[in-house]
Amino acid sequence: MTTSDVLATPPTNAFVWVWLPESTEPVVAGQVRQVGDLHQFIYGRSYLDRADAISLYRPELPLTSGWQDPREAMGMAGCLRDAGPDSWGQRVINVRLAGGRHGDVADKIHATKLTYLLESGSDRIGALDFQRSATEFVPRVADATLDELHAAAQAMDRGELTGVLDDAFVNGTAVGGARPKVLLRDGQRQWIAKLSTSSDTYSVVKAEAVAMALARRVGIPVPATKVIRSLGRDVLLVERFDRPGGGRRRMMISALTMLGFDDFLGARYSSYVEVLDVLRRLGRDGERAGRSLFERIVFNVAISNIDDHARNHAAFWDGSELELTPAYDLCPQLRSGTEARQAMDITADGRRASQFALLVEAAPEYGLTGSQARDVIDSQVATIREQWADAADEAQLTLDDRSYLWGRQILNPYAFEGYGIG
Ligand SMILES: Nc1ncnc2c1ncn2[C@@H]1O[C@H](COP(=O)(O)OP(=O)(O)O)[C@@H](O)[C@H]1O
Ligand SMILES: [Mg+2]
Repeated sequence: MTTSDVLATPPTNAFVWVWLPESTEPVVAGQVRQVGDLHQFIYGRSYLDRADAISLYRPELPLTSGWQDPREAMGMAGCLRDAGPDSWGQRVINVRLAGGRHGDVADKIHATKLTYLLESGSDRIGALDFQRSATEFVPRVADATLDELHAAAQAMDRGELTGVLDDAFVNGTAVGGARPKVLLRDGQRQWIAKLSTSSDTYSVVKAEAVAMALARRVGIPVPATKVIRSLGRDVLLVERFDRPGGGRRRMMISALTMLGFDDFLGARYSSYVEVLDVLRRLGRDGERAGRSLFERIVFNVAISNIDDHARNHAAFWDGSELELTPAYDLCPQLRSGTEARQAMDITADGRRASQFALLVEAAPEYGLTGSQARDVIDSQVATIREQWADAADEAQLTLDDRSYLWGRQILNPYAFEGYGIG
């Protein structure tokens, strides 16, 4: 399809293809169609007839015949929406559809949710893809070097890219998030490369790198990460955990989908306690989920990751159970003023203060006693203090980066207020 075709006739439907667990080839699972503001989904007859068919996410799209509406307050089932591009990918697609023009022209592109699903790359997060055909799978993939992709991202950042964007660059658009990123492969390993931007006021890439290095040291599962240089700038490589190797893909559900929210409601009403409810009901290890989430919140408080919204948590879905993915997007954030709040409620009654004292109070909601909670907090704080220099070396922080982050983002005194030590 040419750009003008896409714009003249926005798609009204798309076929949803899925990589079933352990399989290396996708099969068609069903179809999504737009009816007014809603997107309905139907499983294909051939899919329902398969012995190994699984639901794309049972609470939303159980394995039954007939058209299914999204849950209340959602325009599209969250498990499909999760697979689509977010602000970064949408911007790239708009510029591509505008023939390489930025600004007003790109902003005015009339792209719908289905346009974004169909125009973004096929190597998307999770195990779904979207196609115009139910019978022929045409992957939208292309490889390029990091420097080539990075150069395109930088031109995009400056609003200078002209001409139609390279397929390889568009390949990365299906990965969500707001920051510029591209996808890379080296042999069997696949990485998300998170790039610097001209609007960064500090080294965001290295701050995230040191957070991941610290998370690993306090015992929170995180993917492999590396800081490398490309075009004279830092890039954070994060290994993909939705690609277990051999061409297989793992299905993923965001916490936003577990909560049944769209982005707007999610920003206001998301709660760790409610995510835990879902993991306790549907999780592979519901017992352990409380402690795992608790440890992640403690860590987010410890490093000022107050961007811990419901798209920054996810679980694998295998058709019957959820299992928390390794942690990702752990990034110390700029703080203004003394106080800070997490992006999701920590307690069932809606408190979010980035403070250890609140976590001790909340501990029973996560199945921990107050003293177990203190152990988790004290042990993470001790590890962060002991291992800071080592983690900072691994993340290649400069002396300026270290003094900027330490005591401000990392172990801010506000976190300790009312806690007793610090
Ligand atoms: N290591 C990973 N493996 C698989 N998917 C990931 C990984 N890290 C992030 N993701 C997915 O990619 C999306 C964007 O990544 P993220 O690090 O959150 O970028 P941003 O900083 O732009 O928000 C996440 O919301 C998640 O769905
Ligand atoms: Mg993110």
